[in-house]
Amino acid sequence: MIYMTSHGTITTDNHAALWHGRFTEGPNAAAVEFETSIFEDMRMAVVDIEGSIAHAKMLFKQGLISEAEKKLIIDGLESIKDDLNSGKDKAGNPFTVDLSAEDIHSFIEAVLTDRIGEAGKKIHTGRSRNDQIALDERLYLRQQIRILKSEIIKLLEVLKEIASENINTLIPGFTHMQHAQPVTLAHHVLAWAWMFVRDYSRLCDAAKRADVSPIGSGALAGSGLPLNRKYEAELLGFSEITENSIDTVSDRDYYLETVSVLSILQMHLSRACEEIVLWSTVEFGFIDLSEKWSTGSSIMPQKKNPDFAELIRGKTGTVYGDMIALFTMMKALPLSYDRDMQEDKASFFDAYDTVLNSVKVFTEMIRTAKWNKSVMALGCDGGYLNATDVADYLVRKGLPFRTAHGVSASLVRLAIEKKCRLEELDFSDYRNASELFDKDIFEKITPVACVIARNTDGGPAPKKVKNQIDKLSEFIKMNK
Ligand code: ARG
Repeated sequence: MIYMTSHGTITTDNHAALWHGRFTEGPNAAAVEFETSIFEDMRMAVVDIEGSIAHAKMLFKQGLISEAEKKLIIDGLESIKDDLNSGKDKAGNPFTVDLSAEDIHSFIEAVLTDRIGEAGKKIHTGRSRNDQIALDERLYLRQQIRILKSEIIKLLEVLKEIASENINTLIPGFTHMQHAQPVTLAHHVLAWAWMFVRDYSRLCDAAKRADVSPIGSGALAGSGLPLNRKYEAELLGFSEITENSIDTVSDRDYYLETVSVLSILQMHLSRACEEIVLWSTVEFGFIDLSEKWSTGSSIMPQKKNPDFAELIRGKTGTVYGDMIALFTMMKALPLSYDRDMQEDKASFFDAYDTVLNSVKVFTEMIRTAKWNKSVMALGCDGGYLNATDVADYLVRKGLPFRTAHGVSASLVRLAIEKKCRLEELDFSDYRNASELFDKDIFEKITPVACVIARNTDGGPAPKKVKNQIDKLSEFIKMNK
């Protein structure tokens, strides 16, 4: 029977459900459409096949299938993999995942049996879709985390490049969005970089905890057949096997953990994007985004909008939404497997795709942007960003900081009255405020001098920023 669904035409004839023996009636099309996970888990076709190849090798090692059956199964699975990759079967006919299948596991098993006959029916020996899906998800997650990690490294390389070129580029530093103290562009973009370094390391942690093989846990209670879980795990490149079969088919904490990490990463991107949006305004004018990574307006001819930064910022809501969906779906689920958990893939993949694309777009957007150094330097001129340095000057001469703060504040008040900068006050103004001032105060409070003076570890002084860049280079080298 052929049905029209919102996903296109589907048929329930070709692939009888794996559980059909128990039922006398065929599935209803609306029911099939509602329960299928094929639209999500088709992405895991290749890892599903790799899992089955390892399973066949293990079944043979344990004497559960013959060598000839093992060969048939593996050759059959390899041919399905090749055909899926090329989109054609050996006869040259189009070959894609059949969207009428219940899930990727039943699709591949059905094609395998179609191609190799009876031996295909042995691939599910000692296995349930419950441990199979847990396996596929972990294998796929491992691969996807690797891809995202390499994109983060590319982003860090771009940030490192910008930092290296701007060790001496002055930029006002802000707290409460108000002028605070002068820093450098290098120091500011490195602040972004260290956030992404931590995201990278959080991804490594998540991958490490997911690096445990679930296969052999069966539906929930392992198997009465003499399986060899450790061998199968080794074949699949896992470091360990899970300890408890109920836990194994019940939890999706590897997704919860990763999507939490993804949310933090997207949040970090959103903050950098917010700054880019601000910095590309006429009022700031710190950054000029390339035309490739900006859009125009259909009505206002002068517009060059930072839509990509805005979209990344906006997509943070999408990622958080996916995270909340996953957490809510898992909340209070009784052990062991419940079909609710099938919903995990849609949320997780959506979050993952959004974050991966955001990282890629952010990297290109920032790589191709131009920094307006003179405008940024000008931003350090007004706004009394050097008021702390006036106080520090006095502290160096022995005045208690709280008193020095008061003296500096009085000078700021005077400068505001005189509508001038601190460095434009007369020397007599300084002397009236404190006997401790000498003429060198003027050279000590230029923006450049302020930055050079901030020589603490992790501070913006060019010498210290060079250390940061070295550390970042080392991190990139170690993880490339
Ligand atoms: N499509 C299912 C999922 O993603 C696979 C496991 C199905 N198991 C079952 N007993 N129906 O969770």
